[in-house]
Amino acid sequence: MTRTPLFDVPHKALRYAFSALLNRAATTDFSNLEDLEALNRQMSEVFELVKSHSHHEDDFCFEALDRIAPNATQHDRMEHIRLHHSLDDLQVHARNLIANVRMGQDEQLAGTGLYTALCELHAEMLQHMMEEERDTQPIFWQYMSDAEIMAFEPQIMAAMSPEMSALWLRYIVASQPMPKLTTMFQGIALHAPDFVLAANLSIAESVLPPQQYLRLKTSIHTKAA
Ligand SMILES: [Fe+2]
Repeated sequence: MTRTPLFDVPHKALRYAFSALLNRAATTDFSNLEDLEALNRQMSEVFELVKSHSHHEDDFCFEALDRIAPNATQHDRMEHIRLHHSLDDLQVHARNLIANVRMGQDEQLAGTGLYTALCELHAEMLQHMMEEERDTQPIFWQYMSDAEIMAFEPQIMAAMSPEMSALWLRYIVASQPMPKLTTMFQGIALHAPDFVLAANLSIAESVLPPQQYLRLKTSIHTKAA
């Protein structure tokens, strides 16, 4: 029997977001202020996503599981704290580089250090998410029904600002296969006001290649008709 996956959508989005961030860092000219500021902005955005996801896990999913299976999520919770410290350290690193380049210093070597540190953190993030999927997910399945697992999503959505929801959607649209996106958007078309569907479609249009976006839009109207 196929069970409801708890981590699939946000983890795919985070893997996509972190890979895109690494590509940005790989092509950054660390002597160029504009390049550095663009990298710093993308780091802030991706780190914000990572932290929001960890808090959602801690405050909703893990909170509920720990009430049934005490300490089942202790390792994952500790990893969240450790990884968040690393994210903060990297952000300080990037801001220091920007300040130094503004003062005319050559930061190529320190920039290479930042890129390497981002790569290391990416590896740790991948390991952490894999542990949650491989070790923690089965405990959810053991103690909770699919209905209980699916009930986390509306709780998490309700806790997010519209800006954060829009940011998540950009990375979710970029990291999910078309059948899943179609189901997701058909659900929005059925249950949300028209202006919400229009705003979400506009995000999808900004992320997807034109042919893919057309496929998505057509599938929604086909279903509605
Ligand atoms: Fe996590």
